[in-house]
Amino acid sequence: MSQVYLNGAFMAPEEARISPMDRGFLFADGIYEVIPAFNSVLFRFEEHLQRLERSLREVEIRNPFSPAEWQALCEELIAHNGGGNLSVYLQVTRGAAPRRDHAFPTPPVSPTVFMMTSPIAVPAADSPDTATGGKAITRDDIRWARCDIKSISLLPNSLLRQQAATSGAMETILLRDGFVTEGSASNVFIVLDGTILTPPKNHAILGGITRDLVVELCARHSLPFAETEITEAQLRQAEEIWITSSTREVVPITQLNEAVVGNGKPGAMWKTLARHYIDFKRRLCGLDQE
Ligand code: PDD
Repeated sequence: MSQVYLNGAFMAPEEARISPMDRGFLFADGIYEVIPAFNSVLFRFEEHLQRLERSLREVEIRNPFSPAEWQALCEELIAHNGGGNLSVYLQVTRGAAPRRDHAFPTPPVSPTVFMMTSPIAVPAADSPDTATGGKAITRDDIRWARCDIKSISLLPNSLLRQQAATSGAMETILLRDGFVTEGSASNVFIVLDGTILTPPKNHAILGGITRDLVVELCARHSLPFAETEITEAQLRQAEEIWITSSTREVVPITQLNEAVVGNGKPGAMWKTLARHYIDFKRRLCGLDQE
C-alpha cells in the first residue's frame, strides 16, 4: 500500500489531513519539486535540492530541513513505496495561519511539508530505436512573470495542458510575444539547421533539471548547441522538437499542431542525445547491474 509523508509522519494517503486554513489551499502559497528515482537512486538530487532552496528563498518560506534531512526523507519515502522507478513529489507551503490575510502571518507559522511518490512510465529515451514520439500544440503563454519559481500555483499550466489533452496532444508549447518559452510542464529544444537550440534561462521559464542535463550532455559529447531565443517561425521550421522533464526525460515531438515535424519520426539528433542520456542514467543509477 502506498505511503505519503505529511508534517513529520508517514501514513496512508487517505489518512493525511491538511487544514483548510493552509495557505497552500487558500493562496497556492507554496513551492514544489518533482525528483525522479531510477532503481531507487535519486537522480540529480543535488540539483533538485538547489532549485528547491532557491524557490523557497524567492517566496520567503523557511526551509524546514537540511539537505541531509531532505535526502533521508526522500529515500525513506521511496523505500516505503516499494522502490524502483518512482518520482518523488514534494511540496512546501507557508503553513496554516489563524486567519486569511494576503500578507504573511505574523508571527510566522510552521511550513506544511507534503511528499508522495508516483510510478514513472518507461521514458521514450530508454528505447531510441522504437520510440514513436508525440504531438504538441502551441498556445499563448498566459502565465505570470516569475515562471522560474517552481510555484504550486499551476492553474494556467493546468488549463494549457488540458488543451493539449483535448487535442489529443501530449504537451502544449507556449509562446510569449512570438517566442517559445517552454511547455506547460516541460522545457523545449529544437533542432534547426543541424543545431540544437533551447531558450536561455530567465524569469519566463523554469530552469529544468533535465534541460540542464541535456545542455551538459551536448557539451560533453560536442553536439552542436546554442542557447538562444526561438521564434514561432523557427519552431515551425524545426527539423526536430523535443520536450524535457524529470518524469518524461527527453521526448521527441513529431507533430506540431496539424503539421508533421521533420519526417514525422524521432530525429537522428534526438536518437544520439537519447543514447547519451541513457548511458548517463545507467551509470548514475547502477541500472547496468540489474
Ligand atoms: N514539471 N517547465 C515547467 C513549467 C515544468 O512544470 C517542468 C517540470 C519543467 C521541467 O523541469 P524538470 O526537468 O526539472 O522536471 C519545465 C514537473 C515534472 C511537474 O510539474 O510535474
